[in-house]
Amino acid sequence: MDILSKEDKRNTGGKGKHKSSFILTIIRTDCMKKWEWSARLETGIKEIDEQHKGLFEQIDRLDLAIYRGSAIGELKNLIEYLNSYIVEHLEIEEKLLRDCSYPDYERHFNEHEEFRSLCAELMLRFKKGADNYLALDVDKQMRKWWENHIMKMDMAYVPYIKKEADFL
Ligand SMILES: [Fe+2]
Ligand SMILES: [Fe+2]
Repeated sequence: MDILSKEDKRNTGGKGKHKSSFILTIIRTDCMKKWEWSARLETGIKEIDEQHKGLFEQIDRLDLAIYRGSAIGELKNLIEYLNSYIVEHLEIEEKLLRDCSYPDYERHFNEHEEFRSLCAELMLRFKKGADNYLALDVDKQMRKWWENHIMKMDMAYVPYIKKEADFL
């Protein structure tokens, strides 16, 4: 299967030049197949779904910027914005869970804490020596985490929040 874009073909010229562009194209293609927003990720809680969709959009913006070979300054801005978006979402979600006395709150909070640590570590690595491969690593790790977390942990609290909402 021919997976090289026209631009990549021009860049490589068949002599192996700009190899990084070739690698990034493959990964972008693979990520896109796995990571489109779908109904299976919807919790049915409007505020949460809007934030989750926003996170997908931000991660996708980062992915596209990496794919386009954007300047490191732009990647840095996107990663910083993504990080602040994530921090805000986790806090809002935790408040919602406390408000409905969610019984599995501690485990959920601990998983958020692990992710905050991962984000902090990635941010630090990025500040020390930003490059496209590290940006790609940030992108991949965030995608993986969100998919697992929404499907397993976030979906589990849905009945509790909906039950609480019935009393309001
Ligand atoms: Fe969560
Ligand atoms: Fe969430």
